[in-house]
Amino acid sequence: MKLFLASGNAHKVAEMNSLALAGGLAVEIVSAKAAGGMPPVAEDTGTFIGNARKKALALKAILPDEAWVLADDSGLCVDALGGGPGVESAYYAGPLGDGAANLRKLVEVMRGVPGEKRGAYFVCVLLLAGPKGAEAVFAGRCDGRLSQEPRGGAGFGYDPLFVPEGCELSFAELGDTVKNTLSHRGRAWARLAEHLLRLTS
Ligand code: IMP
Repeated sequence: MKLFLASGNAHKVAEMNSLALAGGLAVEIVSAKAAGGMPPVAEDTGTFIGNARKKALALKAILPDEAWVLADDSGLCVDALGGGPGVESAYYAGPLGDGAANLRKLVEVMRGVPGEKRGAYFVCVLLLAGPKGAEAVFAGRCDGRLSQEPRGGAGFGYDPLFVPEGCELSFAELGDTVKNTLSHRGRAWARLAEHLLRLTS
């Protein structure tokens, strides 16, 4: 089964393909680029589900109705920022969606905030859109805290600053294989995988 990923982020295609492989699923994640390019979408619904639906439907509109599309919307919710940047995570430092600038901004905004006030969690919503308006939604969450300084070179986005619960290392230090077993996307994926197993068997 082919799933077109409604995202322009090449890292997400790789991460989701490795999740599919690890779960032994007969699923191939195909980039939106291979389908002609991800149409521009304003992520302005204010909710993870609403944004995921908008992305899925935008890509579905340029594919045949039989195609299956997977959309992902995710973000980092920081307790000290009242849950922000949340749905705005990708554009925290500006409309260009520059991951390095977003990370730098969060490091600065959180400078001096003591350890006990550095709680945060990642959220991921996966939305599967299929033929004849079929839709299923799967969510995952990963609780943790923000380190004082970014650490590690793996992953993307806020990974160098986020330390998942029960760990001392950041996502960017843990690396993708370990990250996938703990992450919001890994958890949402596990729920999606159960659904895909039923669809493909
Ligand atoms: P979107 O889901 O592509 O709209 O963007 C989500 C944004 O949240 C990304 O651009 C990152 O800034 C952040 N984000 C979501 N998941 C992760 C993750 O696993 N690691 C680091 N940052 C993430």
